[in-house]
Amino acid sequence: MTKETWLLTGGAGYIGAHIADEFIRAGKSVVIYDSLYQGLEHRIQYLRTKHNIDIPLIKADIRDYNELEGVIRTYKIDGIVHTAALKAVGESMEKPDEYFEVNLTATNELIDIAKRNSVKKFIFSSTAAVYGSPDTMDPCREDGPKAPISPYGDSKYQAEAKVTAFINTPGNHGTSLRFFNVVGTAAPELLDNSVENLVPIVLGKLNKGAAPEIFGTDYPTKDGTCIRDYVDVRDIARAHLAAADATQPLPPALNIGTGRGASVREVINLVLAAINKTDTQVIESPRRSGDPAFLCADINLAKSAMGFTAQYSLEASVKSLF
Ligand code: UD1
Repeated sequence: MTKETWLLTGGAGYIGAHIADEFIRAGKSVVIYDSLYQGLEHRIQYLRTKHNIDIPLIKADIRDYNELEGVIRTYKIDGIVHTAALKAVGESMEKPDEYFEVNLTATNELIDIAKRNSVKKFIFSSTAAVYGSPDTMDPCREDGPKAPISPYGDSKYQAEAKVTAFINTPGNHGTSLRFFNVVGTAAPELLDNSVENLVPIVLGKLNKGAAPEIFGTDYPTKDGTCIRDYVDVRDIARAHLAAADATQPLPPALNIGTGRGASVREVINLVLAAINKTDTQVIESPRRSGDPAFLCADINLAKSAMGFTAQYSLEASVKSLF
């Protein structure tokens, strides 16, 4: 069998670079397409050295459709993992048009380009944000209610429709993977550089000698703080490989989580324990608007459809950061 070549949009990002690492390990060729707006070139340099191979890196915007089509033709791409996106929920409220342009319009265009060039496989990075802010304590099922509350979640949800139409075309293969809260790293060189999520925020504060902050301690949960499903980025990468290599047709969307919930207080305590600072003061602040008390994945479909279950515990994910 000839070696498959995969285009990884956003492949210099935190998640994209982990997918590149996993695909190369599994014997696939990868081509990285990244604007480097949030992606980091040194992640690709690290992967080139680690695997001792050349990895093409095309520095271009996902909205540069001529460039995208040229790259797909030049490298004879077999499959696309599309992680390039804007991903800050708060920012999406301020710049909805830009979020729809980058996350929805560009995905639609990319799929049209893929179709014109006989690319048969497409795996889309979607998000638990498609479920919005459910008021139940039940794990989210893929076929349950979708009610995104941010332009970020809405842009991803609408883009899923185009992916679904693509994979429903005979001969095509793929799915949308809905990531829950992504944590951990395979190597210090691939660390999350965002300042958006709980664990990076807590680490940033501790580095500056500031106290971590909990948004809301009066939720109807075991310790009053929000419950989320924290899934290791290495498991996210494994899920992409499972989707790429699945021999059966996949459902249009799959949750990628652990199926286990952890509270904000538990996460902060794990981080403090990892750095031997359990006596650090933690600030208890009011709720942040839009946060559901509970958001966890029902993971049965990913298991039955492609044999995927997450392997890393939250403890292991947190430890990987140090
Ligand atoms: C949201 C999105 C998710 C997106 C992520 C990144 C939804 C449903 N989910 O996840 O798709 O990938 O943002 O922007 O919209 N917290 C604190 N203190 C802090 C920071 C966070 O207590 O300093 C709490 C939050 O209130 C929340 C939990 O930690 O309960 C996780 O927050 P965060 O990492 O921002 O992710 P989500 O809001 O769950």
